[in-house]
Amino acid sequence: MKPKKKWEDHYSRKAKKEDFPARSVYKLQEIQKKFRIIKKGDVVLDLGCSPGSWLLYTSELVGAEGFVVGVDIKPVEVNIASNVKVITGDISRDGIGLLAPLEKEYNIILSDMAPATTGRKDVDAYNSFSLCNDALQIARSFLMPGGSFVCKIFQGPDFIALADEMKNMFRTQKNFKPKSSRKASKEIYLIGIGRK
Ligand SMILES: C[S@@+](CC[C@H](N)C(=O)[O-])C[C@H]1O[C@@H](n2cnc3c(N)ncnc32)[C@H](O)[C@@H]1O
Repeated sequence: MKPKKKWEDHYSRKAKKEDFPARSVYKLQEIQKKFRIIKKGDVVLDLGCSPGSWLLYTSELVGAEGFVVGVDIKPVEVNIASNVKVITGDISRDGIGLLAPLEKEYNIILSDMAPATTGRKDVDAYNSFSLCNDALQIARSFLMPGGSFVCKIFQGPDFIALADEMKNMFRTQKNFKPKSSRKASKEIYLIGIGRK
């Protein structure tokens, strides 16, 4: 019998079976099931989109009338549908410059961006907080009024301040830990519904 990979679990096996390149798709599925934020025809921005499972899922949700733009430092190697465009680049360094030429406003901005982990929880939490700030900055420039925002963060001391900032920017702000998120992980999703 083959030895089990250290991180293999129910969700990673399910992702393999359903042809998703990452188990993270089930976190977005849970968010969608609970908050129903993505609708047919929406224009969606997916920050930190590689290897591409959120892209595959959102392109199905928005359908042919919708559109999805994904950005990541790393390339996306899955086959993408015709309603998806992928940009390779660094959101923290060039975010506005990468997106401005597309001249799009988004109904939904998602960020599953995660920093390379260092093994030091305080450093990782700070780097994750910094990526969330970058994503929120992008939302200030490109999210439509009424639009919604989802952002992954590794919980640390700055997490409450970010949630408070979102309370000012959105009609509703929620924090959500999907069941498919590993118990050992400090990650949580900040959700802002209805940009004021
Ligand atoms: C957990 S993965 C995202 C998985 C993706 N949601 C999926 O379902 O396939 C996090 C991604 O964030 C990307 N990332 C981290 N920092 C970034 C940055 N500054 N700009 C763009 N992407 C970034 C990483 O390269 C990595 O691919």
